[in-house]
Amino acid sequence: MDFYQAVETRQSCRAYADRPVEKEAVLRILRAARLSPSACNSQPWTFVVADDPALCAKVSDCLQSGRLGINRWTGQVPCFIVLVSEKKERTGRAAEILQAHDFTQVDAGIAVQTLALAAAAEGLGSCIVGWIDRPALRKVLDIPEGKEVPVILALGYPADPAVLPKKRREEADLFRFGSYSAGEGR
Ligand SMILES: Cc1cc2nc3c(=O)[nH]c(=O)nc-3n(C[C@H](O)[C@H](O)[C@H](O)COP(=O)(O)O)c2cc1C
Repeated sequence: MDFYQAVETRQSCRAYADRPVEKEAVLRILRAARLSPSACNSQPWTFVVADDPALCAKVSDCLQSGRLGINRWTGQVPCFIVLVSEKKERTGRAAEILQAHDFTQVDAGIAVQTLALAAAAEGLGSCIVGWIDRPALRKVLDIPEGKEVPVILALGYPADPAVLPKKRREEADLFRFGSYSAGEGR
């Protein structure tokens, strides 16, 4: 699968087949994310994999709000990759000090998108999950204080492999050449 195919076939998958993800596929996906760029090459992340059904159930419990029905679908996810950000220890200190800017979230976003695109290239479904009961997850995965979980990637074989049309803003609204106001209002 070429890069643009992976970009087009990646979509948020919220229904998974009852089938485990092969460890070799998970490792290839992790190895792709390991190559992600980061500010000052600080690589401020650790990837924690939950692929045991009992552990997946515990992680899923941390992603749901029963009252609002949010992320109920995570109950059938066979594998989670939990991105743990290491802001205090290994963030791009030089950039932070010189620019007073924290790139940790940017780095995490790049890494999770690399995970998601690699999953698509493997023929796997995935969904980035940001709704997380972080204190509960910290206990489940034994994540030390000072480290944060910006996002999690749900991973598995899709129940339905159909690629749906993407809902996106119009190109004319998004792309501007030369200046921000160029083409505005077209
Ligand atoms: C940072 C982030 C957090 C997200 N959190 C959730 C989530 O908690 N639950 C969920 O079902 N989808 C979540 N999504 C998926 C988005 O809803 C989805 O990417 C968006 O609607 C575009 O659809 P697509 O991924 O199918 O192209 C999240 C996506 C991102 C990038």
